[in-house]
Amino acid sequence: MAGKFIDANEQGFIDAFLAKGYAIIPLDGKAQLDAVRERIYALGTAHLGLKGAKKPSLEEFFDNTQRFVGVEGLNGLRLAVINGLNADPGLMPGFFGMARKFIEWTVGNEIAMQRGINLSIQLPGDDSSLLPLHSDVWDGNSPYEVVLWLPLVDCYKTKSMYVLPRPESRRAYGEFKKDKSFNAEKLFQRVKPGLVWLDVPYGKAVLFSHSIMHGNRVNDEKTTRWTFNIRLKGLLTPYGVKELGESFLPAVVRPATRIGFEYVQEEKA
Ligand SMILES: [Fe+2]
Repeated sequence: MAGKFIDANEQGFIDAFLAKGYAIIPLDGKAQLDAVRERIYALGTAHLGLKGAKKPSLEEFFDNTQRFVGVEGLNGLRLAVINGLNADPGLMPGFFGMARKFIEWTVGNEIAMQRGINLSIQLPGDDSSLLPLHSDVWDGNSPYEVVLWLPLVDCYKTKSMYVLPRPESRRAYGEFKKDKSFNAEKLFQRVKPGLVWLDVPYGKAVLFSHSIMHGNRVNDEKTTRWTFNIRLKGLLTPYGVKELGESFLPAVVRPATRIGFEYVQEEKA
């Protein structure tokens, strides 16, 4: 009998990820996720001057953010929340911990993680912050990277993001490269039947290879979308335009790698 390096459970996840290019994963540590949401609620309501009788409940604030801020104030709110969150050195390790098993199954156990947090807030009907169909690799990002897309609210239908699963994505990209008349809209119409809108309730997240095509459209649901996205990659895999030490920081480094790195540096000195 052939030996197996990886158990059936993990292998099942790996095979599914390879087949689709993404996975919807359950997050560990609900209390920690709730704490992040509470912190954002405190930062957001303080920034918008919502206090006393004017202060909405947490659910009201996240679901109906459009009642408290317009499109013109959205970036200010986003930055106030990000700046407040970045003051907490436990934030990124916290996100990593919530998805650690699946990150390791997807990427490896020596990890580089994006330096800062990306938060997006999409109000219902707002067309000012859309991401048309794209692959991040087209902009020079490393095809070895994955994105952890983590919502703070239930995301479904147009309130969510869409992906084009890996086989269709590879096929469409092959056609796109050959046909010079393709533009973004033509490509979108071509792949539209194969797009999958991800159903991601609060407490789950998406891990996806940003090499597959993905994007969003106008949020036509009645409530606001709040999502984080965090880039991750194997520490020693090739980097793209986002480099180690600039956009990426080492998150998990094993001693053999550190000893090897230090040995090589000392040889050079
Ligand atoms: Fe992207």
